[in-house]
Amino acid sequence: MRRYSRIIGTGSYLPPRRLTNADLVAELGQRGIETSDEWIVERTGIRARHFAAPDVSSSDLALQAARLALQAAGLQATDIDLIIVATSTPDMVFPAAACILQNKLGANGCPAFDLQAVCSGFVYALSVADSMVRAGAANCALVVGAEVFSRILDFNDRTTCVLFGDGAGAVVLQASATPGILCSDLKADGKHVGILCVPGNVSGGQVLGDPVLKMDGQAVFKLAVGVLEQAAHAVLAKAGLKPADVDWLIPHQANIRIMQGTARRLKMGMDKMVVTLDQHGNTSAASIPLALDHAVRMGRVKPGQTLLLQAVGGGFTWGAVLLKL
Ligand code: UT7
Repeated sequence: MRRYSRIIGTGSYLPPRRLTNADLVAELGQRGIETSDEWIVERTGIRARHFAAPDVSSSDLALQAARLALQAAGLQATDIDLIIVATSTPDMVFPAAACILQNKLGANGCPAFDLQAVCSGFVYALSVADSMVRAGAANCALVVGAEVFSRILDFNDRTTCVLFGDGAGAVVLQASATPGILCSDLKADGKHVGILCVPGNVSGGQVLGDPVLKMDGQAVFKLAVGVLEQAAHAVLAKAGLKPADVDWLIPHQANIRIMQGTARRLKMGMDKMVVTLDQHGNTSAASIPLALDHAVRMGRVKPGQTLLLQAVGGGFTWGAVLLKL
């Protein structure tokens, strides 16, 4: 009998502090940084984002999302036998946020590791977890995207600090006799490291370099639209499906213009796309599981439907996962 993996529960969490564009414009104004609600909405589609309190870490956000995903799956933390946390903003240099989360959850003993593929992190993590479940290395995986990007933003750089937010999303992936995850396609091209990076590191007990996010927005934009279309076609071809067979496109939530461009290229209506960007901003590896969970809880995305998840991020990394819920 063939072995597949299937999502059996979703959860997500946003920290309570919500900043509308007007709130952020006022805060930045106090620093002498000029921006406006009109510019942010027109160029990005973002209207609000959530920022975690200073003492809250990625594993704290992940814990709330994971508990809700487990509850939705009807499982206990002790049922989990693999934890993967996709994050670029872990609690510490080491150990992994996944180990910290494991201890907070009370799922001690199972393998737990972080996966760093920036905004593509959740798609990468879901694909890795699916491979491990199909190979028999795990029966019940917790896959989380959790970020506190507010910690790595330069609030003197208006071209980046208005774009990002904090949050976490999680899924429980269980072994199944029927698919579940239909296929995935992951890619990376390291020649683009410089266009989206946090170029600092810890050395000799000090932070060296500039540990805040740097982005060449236009270069990222141009690359993103092309590779997202490629990733979608790659998974559809592997599964022998067409864009019309997809019930919901759940892309990484970075810019509404990129998302609209992808929908146009795939000839899919925006009514088939889950959009939470306006309320969450870009939450990097958390954006897709956050969008998925919101759509599931609103009753929009339903069991049995075909979903195409796709993402692009620093590295450059990109990829897609096609699945039946
Ligand atoms: O999650 C990882 C993937 N990341 C992305 O997908 C991000 C991709 N890139 C983007 O989303 C867009 O390139 C941005 C939203 C970052 C920028 O939009 P854009 O349409 O490419 O704007 P631009 O960089 O061409 O800037 C246009 C103007 C500039 O002024 P001048 O030179 O025309 O006078 C900027 O200085 O907008 C100015 N500007 C701002 N004005 C007000 C840049 N940021 C702001 C701001 N408020 N926050």
